[in-house]
Amino acid sequence: MAASQASRLTTTQDQVSEMSSKDLKEQINALGPWFHNMTIQGVETAPDHFLGDYPRNKWQAFEDVIPRDLEGCSVLDIGCNAGFYALEMKRRNAGRVVGIDTDARYLAQARFAAEQCGADIEFRQMSTYDLRQFDEKFDLVIFMGVLYHLRHPLLALDLLYETVVGKHLLFQSMQRGSADVGGIEENDPFSEENVFHRPDYPKLHFVEHRYADDPTNWFIPNKAAVEAMLRSAGFKIEANPEEEVYLCSRGERHFAAEPPPLCT
Ligand SMILES: C[S@@+](CC[C@H](N)C(=O)[O-])C[C@H]1O[C@@H](n2cnc3c(N)ncnc32)[C@H](O)[C@@H]1O
Repeated sequence: MAASQASRLTTTQDQVSEMSSKDLKEQINALGPWFHNMTIQGVETAPDHFLGDYPRNKWQAFEDVIPRDLEGCSVLDIGCNAGFYALEMKRRNAGRVVGIDTDARYLAQARFAAEQCGADIEFRQMSTYDLRQFDEKFDLVIFMGVLYHLRHPLLALDLLYETVVGKHLLFQSMQRGSADVGGIEENDPFSEENVFHRPDYPKLHFVEHRYADDPTNWFIPNKAAVEAMLRSAGFKIEANPEEEVYLCSRGERHFAAEPPPLCT
């Protein structure tokens, strides 16, 4: 992307459109409800979000871990929703940016927001489980807020490692339970049972029905489980700039971790 085009994406002021503000609000409402609060030509898409100005408030807490200039970098945003992070990567001058999500409504929002911002981003309706359809690795893969929506979270991390993560993974998960990490032995004898009662033992809490009214919240890890699962899938944790956010590079997969199905 030319520098002039990238700078166009930095302010909403310059996002000139023929559309009147009333038409724009109507279009935004028709595409709703929105999970991402984005400002499109001065109109907020989710001004009453239960998490505040989300995900901007989250992004601001860890954005320094991403290079300001991503020129030449390819980015895949998995579970992109309305494309907030994909757009931010374009604002940082990323090259090829692809966003995937299973939900067609969110993808319609993402396409609309990108178009209004003049950002060249490819959006596809696709599941994390279908990542092997990509015959390429991306410099940066964003996997934010998706893990706990999956019935097969470790399979997803294994697929990410085996298929699309070329260099870095930007990861986030909701966490519940203890935020304590460390002090767990690599091995314990069969007779050791107390360790499983420790709050800092890696734990994935299974939600049979709903959590926060959302029937798609399935496995919610504690912090120790997030870190252990990332490592076990083959990722090396480089930074943890915000409680729930990790920047990882590629490391070694656990010696006993079999490859995910159809990746052999
Ligand atoms: C909590 S939102 C997170 C959105 C965004 N990544 C963020 O961090 O703000 C979860 C998103 O994951 C999408 N999603 C759920 N299951 C998915 C799957 N199997 N593959 C890809 N996306 C999925 C949902 O449609 C939704 O857009």
